[in-house]
Amino acid sequence: MTDASGGESTTSPDARLSERPDWIYLLREFEALFRHGSAGGSKAIRTHRKAVRDRLSAVIAADGGFVEQTPITKPVTAHFNRALDVGERGAMQGMARALRQVRDRLTWEYGYEKVPPALARKYAYCEILGPRGPILADRLILGFVLFAPNTTYPQHSHKSIEESYISISGAWSENNAAVYAPGSLILNRPGDEHRITTGELEPCLLAYAWVGTPEALTAPGMKLTAPKRKRAGA
Ligand SMILES: [Fe+2]
Repeated sequence: MTDASGGESTTSPDARLSERPDWIYLLREFEALFRHGSAGGSKAIRTHRKAVRDRLSAVIAADGGFVEQTPITKPVTAHFNRALDVGERGAMQGMARALRQVRDRLTWEYGYEKVPPALARKYAYCEILGPRGPILADRLILGFVLFAPNTTYPQHSHKSIEESYISISGAWSENNAAVYAPGSLILNRPGDEHRITTGELEPCLLAYAWVGTPEALTAPGMKLTAPKRKRAGA
């Protein structure tokens, strides 16, 4: 069922959200971040924060559906314990603790049919809310992305989707522009090219939010930007 306020998708749920309290507490951590954090004076970030919290509040108020998923790990999840340990000592400790409670129920993915070999051991993401669940919503995706230390995630962009990252654990940079610490929010508007690098010694865990239409979120069409070909003779 789809509701106009941004609630639920067409996948049939196995339970109501109210029957999965650990997941509600995780959502409330997201809601608190997007409600109480600062936009740093940026109108674009303020608008994004409001879009995320309005869509998220609608799912919580509607007691959205929950779809059971098969937990899946990836090689990089060997770094997950450390990322949570470090996260629990910092500014994002509430989120890190709430995430620990569902850690064995996460479905880690690559998101590409062909994963670049250099990335297969160093990266994976899991969705916690979106059209595919586990918590159903059709105009918002929330999830986490985990990087091993010393990782470069190649340049990419998202078509028709506005993305924000919130640092939970570890240090990272985007487009060599700055170093971000736990609590930082970074906004990537649709089509913005971005490339991520992570610190040498610790893993990096980011929460992300994707805002878009149901069509855009159902088929995200994320694309890695092809590296520039070497010119002949160069
Ligand atoms: Fe991205």
